[in-house]
Amino acid sequence: MNYILRDENALYYECGYSSDNAIFVSLGSEKWLITDSRYTVEAKENVKGAEVIEASDLLGALRALLRGRGTTKLLFDPKEWSVSALDTLRGKLPHVRFLPRPDFSHRKRIVKSPEEIALLRQAAELGREGFATFAKYLGLFGLDRREKRLHFEAKAAMSGYGEYDLSFDPIVAIGPNAAKPHALPTDVVLKEGDLLLVDAGLKYRRYCSDRTRTLFVKEGAAFDDEQHFSSPKIQKAYDLVRKAHDRAIEQARAGMTGARIDRLAREVIEKGGMGEFFVHSTGHGVGLDIHEMPYISARSGTRVEEGMVFTIEPGIYIPGEFGIRIEDMVVISGGRAEIL
Ligand code: GLY
Ligand code: MN
Repeated sequence: MNYILRDENALYYECGYSSDNAIFVSLGSEKWLITDSRYTVEAKENVKGAEVIEASDLLGALRALLRGRGTTKLLFDPKEWSVSALDTLRGKLPHVRFLPRPDFSHRKRIVKSPEEIALLRQAAELGREGFATFAKYLGLFGLDRREKRLHFEAKAAMSGYGEYDLSFDPIVAIGPNAAKPHALPTDVVLKEGDLLLVDAGLKYRRYCSDRTRTLFVKEGAAFDDEQHFSSPKIQKAYDLVRKAHDRAIEQARAGMTGARIDRLAREVIEKGGMGEFFVHSTGHGVGLDIHEMPYISARSGTRVEEGMVFTIEPGIYIPGEFGIRIEDMVVISGGRAEIL
């Protein structure tokens, strides 16, 4: 299968290196990474199983390779390529059929190797440590701080104070702001008795962690699963989300579709009368990308298999009032979902 890739994580998966200006080319058994002179020294030190080509015109170098090998068919992921790059290639290579295959790199990566699972396990462990560090900050200095400052402190804690990249910009939301599943930080100030939602992750050797906890802010508060809110409505929602999260993890099995696992969580919240407030899917795969296959949604016909890693993250969001989400990463191992 001849193919080209442009996405950085797809490149890293293929050859152990990526830059923001590079193309990976696989023609038969030969492979190349084409990048520009800013990156070639590092590329040559890190690329495995492919030859590094230095070029200021990446598309020109790609065309030369394709012409030189007499390539007539080439797979590409249309989500990775700009219309203008494809037009240039097609215009100058009329004898090559460019065959769109959306997500083909993600499909290759859907089942993780034991080495990848070990990296994801370590990322998850470091992510938990980041939450514990942030909890300590909250306990000592969190009260009367604005969400924006808490957001900054969450980034510092999750990164191990500069040791790790983050998987995504953390979500740190107080009370009504948490009703927006991906809230941006505001000037609202944290007070005792508030609800606080924190969704954050880091990257360990490029593999992402992802975790969410929601807590009741009081002295000695921690990101424990058991939380006691002063509002009965919030407590009811919290208990439903927790039950949905636990049920999906306990009952997920290899061979189930993403849709079936989504139902395991969603049924709990629907039966509790709050189904309309669970406004997103139950989970998503995690790996080099923070969101990848398999998707755990009502539309997902993908069957989960041994070695797949994904999140379970049900939530309830009542606009103007509060939002709750509990999220963990799991791996399918021995036919069941194990929390990483
Ligand atoms: N943790 C962010 C998300 O999964 O969308
Ligand atoms: Mn997530």
